[in-house]
Formats: sequence, C-alpha cells, structure tokens
Amino acid sequence: MKRGSEKQQRETAARREGERKREENTRKGDAAQKTIGLVFVSESNPITQQAANEAVDLALAAFAAATTSAELKQARAEHAGDGSPIARLNAKMREVPKELKAETGKFMGQARGRIEGAYKQREAELAEKEAAERLIAETVDVTEAPVRRTTGTRHPLAQLQDEIGDVFIGMGWEIAEGPELEHEWYNFDALGFDPDHPARAMQDTFFVDPPERHLLLRTHTSPVQVRSLLDRELPLYVIAPGRVYRTDELDATHTPVFHQVEGIAIDKGLTMAHLRGTLEHFARQMFGDEAKIRLRPNFFPFTEPSAEMDVWQPNAKGGARWVEWGGCGMVDPNELLAAGIDPDEYQGFAFGMGIERTLQFRHDLNDMRDMVEGDIRFNRQFGGLV
Ligand code: DAH
Repeated sequence: MKRGSEKQQRETAARREGERKREENTRKGDAAQKTIGLVFVSESNPITQQAANEAVDLALAAFAAATTSAELKQARAEHAGDGSPIARLNAKMREVPKELKAETGKFMGQARGRIEGAYKQREAELAEKEAAERLIAETVDVTEAPVRRTTGTRHPLAQLQDEIGDVFIGMGWEIAEGPELEHEWYNFDALGFDPDHPARAMQDTFFVDPPERHLLLRTHTSPVQVRSLLDRELPLYVIAPGRVYRTDELDATHTPVFHQVEGIAIDKGLTMAHLRGTLEHFARQMFGDEAKIRLRPNFFPFTEPSAEMDVWQPNAKGGARWVEWGGCGMVDPNELLAAGIDPDEYQGFAFGMGIERTLQFRHDLNDMRDMVEGDIRFNRQFGGLV
C-alpha cells in the first residue's frame, strides 16, 4: 500500500495544483472581466459616454443654429441649463458605481466643457456680427450736407411791443388795433388838424393814390383814439401799438417806417394826475425803478392841455440826461363832442410815444438803422436765438 499511497499522494498533489491554477485563472479572468467592464461594457453605468456625446452634439448644433444673441441665450438654457440633456445625465452621477465615478466624472466634465466652450465661441461670433450690423445701421455719412435748422425769434421791437402790452393789460387796459392804410379824416380831421392847419404840415405824409379817396399811410397811432371813441363803450382804457409811416429819410434818428404806442383813457373825473401817474408807472416798467418823467407844455391839436414828455436816462452814454419820449395831454373836449361824448361828464387823457425810441433808450442804441436793416447780429444781442 505504500507504493499505492505514494501514487495517491502524487495524484492528490496534482489535483491540488490543478485546483490552485484554476482558481488563479478564475481570479485573473475576473480581473480581466472587470477591466473590460470599465471601458467597454457599460450596462452597469447609468451614464454612458455615448449619451454624453449626444448631449454635446445636440448643444453644439443648437448653438450653431442660433443667429442672434437672444436665440443663443435660449439655446444655452435648453442645452446647458436645468433640465437640459447634459444636466439630466449629470444628475445620474449619484447612481454611478463607485469604481466608475472617476472616469465618468472625467468624461462628463469634458462634455460640459465642450458645451461651454462652444457657447463662448458662438457668443463672441454673434456679438461681433451684431456690432458690425449696428455699425452699418448707424453709419453717419460725414460728407452729407447737414440740415441747419435754426430757431427763429421775434424782432426786438415786436418783443418790446408785447411787453408794453403786458404792462397795460396788468393795469386792466385793453389793446386796440387800427388800419395802417388810414382815411385822412381819422388821421387828421377828427383829431383837430384843419385842412389848412399848420400842424398838418408837421407830419410828412405818404398819401395814397387816387387823391380823391383821401387815403394815406397813418402818420401816427392817434387815429385809433378816434376809432376807439366811436366804437367802444365808456369808460375806456385802451392802448394801440402799431406801425406808422412818414416821408423821412433813413438816418441814425429817423426811419420812414416806425412804431408807436398810443394810449387813451376816458372815464369820469380823470385828471392830469392820472395821466402823470400812468406814465410814471409805464416809465418805471420800461426803464427801471429809478426812471423819472417830466412834462413840458407843448401843442397838439387833439389834446388840451398838451405836453411833451421826457424820461430821465441815468445811464445814457454821454452822461445822465432827459430825453424826449412822447407827447401827451388831456383829450380835447371837441374830440369828445365829435364822438358824441359829453365832456362835462367824461374826461380823458392820451399819450403816444415811439417804440423804436423806447428800445433805443433802454439799450442805449445810437443808430435806428440797426433795427431795420435785418442783421441778425443785432437781434442776437437781445437774447433771441437766430
Ligand atoms: N400822435 C403824436 C405824434 O405822433 C403823439 C401824441 C401826442 C399822441 C399827444 C397823443 C397825445 O395821444 O395826446 O407826435
């Protein structure tokens, strides 16, 4: 049995060796199996490289298809934001077996990186394209002649005329108008200028053909006094600013066309004190609180008594002085009677002055021609935009 047992022992040893080898092979095989599973066999991994690649491809296609920054933002929300294919895939990271996590994390990171990179690139492309489009849209042709739109302004005389109107409206007066092409009767006769009255010659008149119609360009605004007396209810407080004409040569102190403002007040109990007070207020409004006026006796056929009115000009170029501003007086009772007004019941005062002169005194202008010649540099000094 000894031999037999030796043989048995050899067989047993061989068998054991075989088992050991088989076991070893099995171990090697398992290990090999696992290596294969990691790389190629992925049934056990909920995140596949293929799925990640598909998510990337979808994102890249969407980014490429976007033609504006707004579309691209939208594509980014769909392909990189919450609920996007890549985000849904990423959410499965928790389910990835431990031993596959590193590798999966790596290719998922790469996938996200490719998406983000593609987004950045397309974003830059579109920004550049849109900037170029904007530049084209906003192109300014510097060779094109500009449209010079200038803002106009009213003439300083017209502005002053309005200002004078405001002063009197502030005192409750009304503004009246009369025609510049006037009948001789209103301009002279009704105001007490007899046909042969020397006063008629005081004003050099533009008569208008044919002479038998007795039309002229009004030489003063006083005919509006007559029209107001005939047209309006009493009491009346009216000013009438407007253009007047005389056959003067144009020089530093005369223009054949100029402006006056006429004033007439008819009420019960009006005296020269009212006239004076009104003119003083007007002078202060025009020339400042220091302004003073003075009345010098004079003659006008439609006022009795009449006066020449001077205004004190403290800042005149040659030094402070009195300058003649206009004429005034108490309305002649004959004028009231001619208009059917009882001079015992109603009295009135009237005044008239040149608007050019007023502008001249206010601004110390020494040449009236500047006002009519139309050089806008003159107008600009009065603050108007031209
Ligand atoms: N009309 C006169 C002139 O042009 C000015 C004038 C003087 C008007 C006396 C009046 C006045 O109302 O009462 O010279």
